[in-house]
Amino acid sequence: MEVKTIGLCSDHAGFALKEYVKSWLSARGWGFVDFGTFSSQSCDYPDYAHPMAEAIERGEVYPGIAICGTGNGIAMTLNKHQGIRAALCWKPEICELARKHNDANVLVLPGRHLTNVEADAILEVFFTAEFEGGRHERRINKIPVSGVQG
Ligand code: RB5
Repeated sequence: MEVKTIGLCSDHAGFALKEYVKSWLSARGWGFVDFGTFSSQSCDYPDYAHPMAEAIERGEVYPGIAICGTGNGIAMTLNKHQGIRAALCWKPEICELARKHNDANVLVLPGRHLTNVEADAILEVFFTAEFEGGRHERRINKIPVSGVQG
């Protein structure tokens, strides 16, 4: 993928892994915008997921990385946006197909269920696997719900 400025968001349960992801991105010289949260104090993931989703839809950041405890709540929130294809990935094989077949534009990680080493392998795949297009393009074009604003 052509990496632009990367968007990041999490809740408190994903805060520690988000900090680790920032160091991983910085080590590669990649810039990011952190939409929060900014501490491990309890908070609500939609407050951070919606602003990042809107920034992706406006073309300001791409791709996004989102983290909550399980990944489910933040993925559900992001996928309410018509332009978002957020994929919950807990192992590299799932992530590879999320890029190759689904052209995922947000990687969602389950912060309470991954070690940093496990996250490394998933991040590596997310940024290297390419969308295959073809029949998969036809399918992802059918995902948005017509008449619904993102
Ligand atoms: C927070 O306790 C937890 O519910 C949240 O991070 C996430 O896992 C929800 O889907």
